Formats: sequence, C-alpha cells, structure tokens
Amino acid sequence: MKIAILTSGGDSAGMNAVVRSAVKAAILKGCEAWIVREGYEGLVRGNTEAEAVSTYVPPVAASYPDFPEAANDIINNLRFGDGEKLRDGTGDYTSGITLKGRYIIRVGWDDVRGWFGEGGTLIGTARSKEFRTREGRLAAAHNMIKEGIDALVVCGGKITDAQVAAHSHLKIVGLVGSIDNDMSMTDLTIGAPTALHRICEAIDNINSTASSHSRAFVIEVMGRHCGWLALLAAVAGGADFLLIPEQPPKNKSWEDEMCAVIHQHREVGKRKTLVIVAEGAHDLDLNPIKAEHVKDILSDRLGLDTRVTTLGHTQRGGRPCAMDRILPTLQGMKAVDALLEANPETPSYMIGIQENKITMVPLMEAVAMTKAVTAAIEEKDFAKAMRLRDPEFRE
Ligand code: F6P
Repeated sequence: MKIAILTSGGDSAGMNAVVRSAVKAAILKGCEAWIVREGYEGLVRGNTEAEAVSTYVPPVAASYPDFPEAANDIINNLRFGDGEKLRDGTGDYTSGITLKGRYIIRVGWDDVRGWFGEGGTLIGTARSKEFRTREGRLAAAHNMIKEGIDALVVCGGKITDAQVAAHSHLKIVGLVGSIDNDMSMTDLTIGAPTALHRICEAIDNINSTASSHSRAFVIEVMGRHCGWLALLAAVAGGADFLLIPEQPPKNKSWEDEMCAVIHQHREVGKRKTLVIVAEGAHDLDLNPIKAEHVKDILSDRLGLDTRVTTLGHTQRGGRPCAMDRILPTLQGMKAVDALLEANPETPSYMIGIQENKITMVPLMEAVAMTKAVTAAIEEKDFAKAMRLRDPEFRE
C-alpha cells in the first residue's frame, strides 16, 4: 500500500510528530510512505518534475514483506461527490525529497528523524481554495492516481476537506491537529495542550507586571468558535472573569456583573485583575465581545489601569509539549492500522482520544457532531451546545 500523509489547515504543535509516526508505522508494516507538501494544495499541484533520490528503508521493514497491496480499483474508481469516475494510466515517477515542482514525495525512515520536537509542520500546510473547487479536486485525484497513492493520512483542523475526500473510494483517515480543541468525539486535539501551555506562560509573565503595578489585563486567546483554551487558561491562570462563546454571561448587563465581581476581588485585597476573552466570545444576542471593549469598561467604571494583550500566533507555534509528542505518535500508528484494516464497508475514520484511550470514530459522524455545536450556538441554544460538548453538562 502507498500511504501519503499531509497536514492541512492552521499549523499546530505535534503535526510533525504525526508525520514521523505515520511514516515510520507505514514502513514498519511494509507499506510505502509518502508525504504531500503544502496540504491539499500539494495534491492539486502534484509533481511536475521527476527526481530520483535514494530512500533509506530500515532492515526491520523486511520482516513484514507480505503486507497486502492496496486494491487498484480503489484508486481507479476514485469518485468525488458528484459520482464521476476518473481513470488514468500510471505515472512514471521516482522518489525524491522536497524539491521544487514536486509535491507528492516518497520518504524514508531517516527523512523524519527527530521530527517530534519541531514546531509547526515541516511539510507545509495551506488552506487550499483550489481543493474546494470541483476542478481542483479532480486535479488532486488525477495526481494521486498518477503517483499510485491509495491511502491518505490527513492531519488538520476541522478536517472538513478530509470529509470531501472521504466521499471518494480512497482510503482516508483523519487526525485532528488544531490548537482550538473544537472537534467533537475526541477529548483532545493535537496542538491544544502546547497552546494552553504557551498561554499559561504568557499569563505568568503578565502577572508580574499586573501585580507590580496593580493593573488589570484583558487577555485575548485564540480558539475560533471554541472556548476550550480560554476556559482552561482561566482555571490555570486564576482569572477573575472569563468570556467564552459556548456560555455567554447569563446576565444581559454582563458588564455590571463583571464589574461587581472584580470590585469584590479588589476589595478583599487582590492587586491584579485578569480577564480572559476567547476570540469568539459574544453576548446572549451573539454580539461579539471584544477585548478593547472589556478594557474600556474596567478603566471607565472601576478606574483600573488596564491593558489588552492579544496573544495571537505566539500560542500556536514552537516546540510541542510532551503530550503533543505522545498523542500524535500513538495516533499516527493507529491511523496506519486503520488504513490497513479498511475495507469497502468500513467508513473513513477519525483517530481521537477518549478517556485516555486512542479511538477510531467515523469521520463523518465527528464532523457532523462538531457542526451541530456551532449550529446550536448560532441558534442561541447554549445549553445544547454545552451538552453536545459534554453529555454530562447540567445548567
Ligand atoms: O484554528 C486555529 C486558529 O489558530 C484559530 O484559533 C484562529 O482563529 C485561526 O486559526 C487564525 O488563523 P490564521 O492563522 O489564518 O490567522
């Protein structure tokens, strides 16, 4: 089987560990390991140059010689959404490594050595507009057929593009690489623990100034429509007030409520004030709540010397923490197993983690559940959104 691995969407710490793990697991199980540079964009662009570079395959691979070859008809019947079938001859491409004009590349054991400690994604990522068009997807399918790729490991954000590809007969497995931890049916996404760690470090740094000057800080954290990073950062950093999308302040005049809480904390002697605002925070009517607005309230109503810090992309990059090495390593291995076990009856799987066990759940179900959370928020049914995130949630 020829297994190609790609990363898509926003980068997150741990993506390289996924690539390393899936490459090594594939080789150990007698498969060819390939990578696709620049996410789905690389699939669309394909290889326009051929270059031969020898690829190291460890001797241990020889002990798994008879692993089943992928059924050619899977790739020959590759079908996207509209049901159109694609057929093509085979290309005559040889292996290479990250060369201009080559986006789909065979890799060996040594090519990914030490990758688990690197931030971002070394094989590149892109939010590919082309892949969202029919022409783009046809080009991607064509390029995969040309290279003989018959299975894909995709590590990306909401893996909605994997969902598109999952409509095809291609064997595909998704791993969720996202700092937002916004995917349903998994407890943790790859990169979220590192991002949370970065936020905690930033809060520690800010706390020094906040305490020294008795200031208030409003810290905006990432997370898109999800409040996980903000919520856990508030717990870990001892925030006075928190604003997240899933649970907007119940009180319409939330500003009064916030001021009352912070005033009380100051009254009992607290020298510093910390308000965490998730970037997707809003009020009960879905009006966005912005950090600058919170700052103005703290300054004007409580007379606090207040600053805003938007942590931005400092949260996303850098070296992965231990969890973002262990989780992707285990999940990358599981992803290869899922592909080897796949048959026409099995759905495409998402590899997750639930209650400390690495899991395989139907990809489409996980995507649907995730979309349901966003829909519940848009319908202002916040309790439903929380229950979808956590079935044991009680108001
Ligand atoms: O999904 C990851 C994420 O970092 C979000 O938290 C944030 O909203 C978004 O990506 C930022 O995207 P970009 O890097 O394109 O600005």
